[in-house]
Amino acid sequence: MKKGQETDRKPRSKLLAALSGEAQAIPPVWLMRQAGRYLPEYREVRTRAGSFLDLCFNSELATEVTLQPVRRFDVDAAILFSDILVIPYALGQNLSFVEGEGPRLKPAITKAEIKTLRKQNVLQKLAPIFETVARTRAELDSSKALIGFAGAPWTVATYMLAGGPLKDPASLRAAYYDDAAFVMALIDILVEASVEYLIAQADAGADALQLFDTWAGGMTPELTEILSVIPMRRIVEAVKKARPDTPVIVFPKGVGALAERYVLDKSTDAIGIDFTQDPGWARTRLSNRAAIQGGPDPLLVVHGGAAMEKAVRGYLSVFEGVPYIFNLGHGLVPQTPPENVARLVEIVRRR
Ligand code: CP3
Repeated sequence: MKKGQETDRKPRSKLLAALSGEAQAIPPVWLMRQAGRYLPEYREVRTRAGSFLDLCFNSELATEVTLQPVRRFDVDAAILFSDILVIPYALGQNLSFVEGEGPRLKPAITKAEIKTLRKQNVLQKLAPIFETVARTRAELDSSKALIGFAGAPWTVATYMLAGGPLKDPASLRAAYYDDAAFVMALIDILVEASVEYLIAQADAGADALQLFDTWAGGMTPELTEILSVIPMRRIVEAVKKARPDTPVIVFPKGVGALAERYVLDKSTDAIGIDFTQDPGWARTRLSNRAAIQGGPDPLLVVHGGAAMEKAVRGYLSVFEGVPYIFNLGHGLVPQTPPENVARLVEIVRRR
């Protein structure tokens, strides 16, 4: 059955309505990293799966983990349980997750290593992820949207070039000044792989797609344009050309006023704002071009109580009357008490 036919008969998701530009009296809500270590049921499945990567590639368990937050909280969307680093993995870079340290990609990509990346068979290696998408969509109520995702090329490139989490952002700016052709060749490979990957997620049943550019901030305006804005726009345009009905959200973290550049072309359906962004500014400068997604500092959800409540209500009131999706200004952290998440969702729902 085609997606369009399905939505005619069944209740339409609030998230998709907001993404199509309709302001919702009660905005849709979902949370970045809503599936993860702060949930005891996640920790249980994670232990059963073995490594984090084993979990990402086990579609039965990944489906279970994707659905956990939707079962526990009244959120409007599930986000596919996977990781942005499955793309370098599918390209042939060695990937592991080291407890307490984060991802390790070995060897780090150098000019010589770039030739070893294999662009063929990327989709084949990622097949279990598309199965997770299909299984999750089949189990999810039609009023809930399923969000697929990929890392933006720059953010994925930072991990590939640094061999793990970026410790010294200056070294990557220096790498670009030293050899722009090499960095851009890597970006091009990632743009191409991400387009294929996102289209395949849409075809497997993802209702909307998000691009995470966690490391977009802290660069010069010119580098932001070259390394983040343009590669993301290339992906959005290619995906929308192939699948015009699938909305795309971009989340360029830490870019401040440069956020405007990401919505200049109207193909991007929504832009995520992080917790450093002034919501009033975002409403004035961004909301006439795209739906806005985002909200408070995730650390306020660790703290909970009146401070969290005030922050949530602040965002809800700033974005009244414009297409808005409630979320946090970055992902939930492992030390978050699940009760605070339940309370947060309740505040949004009962505004
Ligand atoms: O619930 C969801 O949001 C869906 C799943 C999801 C994960 N990672 C699961 C995950 C999503 C959308 C991501 C995206 C991701 N991964 C980003 C962009 C968003 C952001 O947070 O800025 C980045 C930069 C990564 C790379 C990554 N993956 C790092 C740096 C780490 C280690 C840090 C950490 O939190 O442990 C991961 C591992 C990871 N990805 C975990 C989860 C739940 C924790 C691993 C575990 O369970 O052991």
